[in-house]
Amino acid sequence: MDNDIILEFKNVTKKFPGVVALNDVSFKIRRGEIHGICGENGAGKSTLMKILSGVYPHDTYDGSVIFNGEELLLGESAIQEAGNKGIAIVYQELTLVPTMSVGENVFLGREPVERGAINWNKLYANTREILEKYQLDVPPQAIVKTLGVGKMQMVEIAKALSEKALVLILDEPTSALSEAEIDKLMDILKILKSNGITCIYITHKLEELFRITDKVTVMRDGKEIVTEETKNLTQEKLVKYMVGREMKERFPKASRTPGNVIFKVEDLQALDPNEATRKVLNGVSFDVRKGEILGIAGLMGAGRTELVMTLFGEYGKVINGKILLNDLEIKPSSAREAINAGLSLVPEDRKGMGLVLIQSILKNISLPNLDQFSSFFRIDADAELKASMQQSKNLTIKTPSLEVAVETLSGGNQQKVVISKWLMSKPSVLIMDDPTRGIDVGAKYEIYKLMNDLAEKGVAIIMISSDLEEVLGMSDRIMVMCRGHSTTTLSVAEATVERVMALATGISS
Ligand SMILES: Nc1ncnc2c1ncn2[C@@H]1O[C@H](COP(=O)(O)OP(=O)(O)OP(=O)(O)O)[C@@H](O)[C@H]1O
Ligand SMILES: [Mg+2]
Repeated sequence: MDNDIILEFKNVTKKFPGVVALNDVSFKIRRGEIHGICGENGAGKSTLMKILSGVYPHDTYDGSVIFNGEELLLGESAIQEAGNKGIAIVYQELTLVPTMSVGENVFLGREPVERGAINWNKLYANTREILEKYQLDVPPQAIVKTLGVGKMQMVEIAKALSEKALVLILDEPTSALSEAEIDKLMDILKILKSNGITCIYITHKLEELFRITDKVTVMRDGKEIVTEETKNLTQEKLVKYMVGREMKERFPKASRTPGNVIFKVEDLQALDPNEATRKVLNGVSFDVRKGEILGIAGLMGAGRTELVMTLFGEYGKVINGKILLNDLEIKPSSAREAINAGLSLVPEDRKGMGLVLIQSILKNISLPNLDQFSSFFRIDADAELKASMQQSKNLTIKTPSLEVAVETLSGGNQQKVVISKWLMSKPSVLIMDDPTRGIDVGAKYEIYKLMNDLAEKGVAIIMISSDLEEVLGMSDRIMVMCRGHSTTTLSVAEATVERVMALATGISS
């Protein structure tokens, strides 16, 4: 075998009940390269990586995988075997234990033990060493749940890198990272590459593929569509390979005229509930009109998610300011109260807050909306199914049926279920925290269309997003947050990437 090739997939086929996740996939990955993989939600990317990392042992799929010159025959404790062979993976969904510290997570199951006890000093020293080596800015002793998703992702990376890796698989590593953190990750990848480590990089962000990869494989419907040198590809070509058709524009056209102000926040200030001296919101003011999309931009850590959680009574301790819905002050002390008042939330962390993973898609979509289908305490199952089917079709949720458990869906399709659930709840104010994170280009377009539809029907939408193009493309006005407070609200006509960045970084106010 060619020594240049570290990895070869040969006719790999993997089936789940009702789904062919991988259909006769064959391609090669060269040693020391950064190899990108992209494709629509449910295309089979994560499944292929799970075969590599031993989640699916070799007797659960057809075809073969040649790794470093020999066939990868992972057996019983396949995940460990894969790790020992030098295959490291950072999964798409966070896998950390929220109540444990960063160090405990990085060395989970591999804690340094001396005389029958864990050597904590050593554990934290080793953690610090890894974090510093790769310039990951996280305190080793911090409890994971107190970190934002961005930092959590860094801990995941540290955890994978602490093994002696030949191949490092990153499954959508940047979907929650800020621009600066993405830059840092790109630097890390370059360092790894110069050390001869092969990286497999899965992402929906095409610009990243062009920035960092040597080669790209596009997958669609479980098949490998093309494997090509990045320098021979263009964005247009990639999108066409991914969705199987041309896509001219990223954002659908909208026609709407916003009405009266329906939701208003005045000088909101709040403390960290766990650390009473730390202000997480330091003067946030904005309003949203009926039928308007207000974008909220800001850097990682600017307080956007803290704002949302505070509005829902789930996080910050409010010490000043007002929240007004229809001119009436509301003081929700739980998400339930906020929802009853008329707010809805598509949360950032779909696994933690959005879904009951072991329940079916149908139940997840319709559960918060059952009152729509109930009369005299009976649930109209047909209406429930029909409405849920319609949503699922609108958002192209890829599944054999609505009865399957949400946990078996691909990451992006899980996110679509979360969105469906709240779109059906017909709220008057809908707050979406990074709604299209991890969603493929085709489905993003569908979500944007649904947002436009809702706005046209008079729903006020607040969209938080780290994707500036998306904020600029979808919003009527844009509120920029910087270090816990709101700066100027811009109309979309006056907003540019430069202007928003200047506000977000505090260069202008
Ligand atoms: N454990 C499972 N049981 C049943 N079906 C599954 C399971 N895991 C994945 N699938 C199905 O296999 C297909 C491929 O899923 P996969 O997670 O590989 O997609 P993906 O390309 O990673 O998508 P995304 O971009 O959304 O992460 C999907 O249709 C998914 O529903
Ligand atoms: Mg995936």
